[in-house]
Amino acid sequence: MLRIGVLLSISLALLILGSVLPPTNQVNSVPANVPQYTADGQLKFPANYREWVYLSSGIDMSYGPGAGMDHSMFDNVFVNPEAYKYFLANGTWPDKTMLVLEVRGAESKSAINKAGHYQSTVVMGREVHVKDESRFPGKWAFFGFDDAPTAKMFPTEMDCYSCHAQHTAVDTTFVQFYPTLIEIAKKKGTLSAAYLKEEPSAK
Ligand code: HEC
Repeated sequence: MLRIGVLLSISLALLILGSVLPPTNQVNSVPANVPQYTADGQLKFPANYREWVYLSSGIDMSYGPGAGMDHSMFDNVFVNPEAYKYFLANGTWPDKTMLVLEVRGAESKSAINKAGHYQSTVVMGREVHVKDESRFPGKWAFFGFDDAPTAKMFPTEMDCYSCHAQHTAVDTTFVQFYPTLIEIAKKKGTLSAAYLKEEPSAK
């Protein structure tokens, strides 16, 4: 009898707790998008990046992985929504920003399509640019993912770091090619010295 009483009061307590605490699967309780690492320091691929904010698509940009190849390629850039909101207010990126560059082949053969290209369903590569100030000496790091869910950081000797450091409009990112952001950077005065020298007309 005593045991049933205890069980009953436990169930009652759980019932009350359940109605007081918000359910964990609520839509507005989506966890923040922050970089996550394995124990040996590899970045976990942010698999939900297609739900992030879309910044731009480049086609056949000649610095890119498809440069000089005989077929066209698109690259699509996405950023986590928390960082995007911060950029709108400040003209630069907060700590824990993640940008994903997704490379896709360009197709042109379709019954309805007479000219131009559309994007293939096949992803040819994904690269991630992460700002994690306490983790990386240069604040930012690059990662490249094939099909694996985790990746090691690209070594800082790679040309990713030098090209991005020397030619980007804002904080090692190519904001000059992200049409919803470049005007904000201009207004907030956050354009890099290197970019202003390279593109004096941008002032
Ligand atoms: C010669 C210059 C150059 C080199 C080298 C280069 N990139 Fe970039 N990167 C660009 C440009 C230009 C863009 C803008 C793409 C667009 O507008 O679609 C870009 C954009 C990106 C982005 C989107 C976020 C951002 O920072 O703007 C990522 C991620 C990225 N590159 C990763 C890499 C990685 C990884 C490497 C090295 C393996 C690399 N890049 C090497 C020029 C370069």
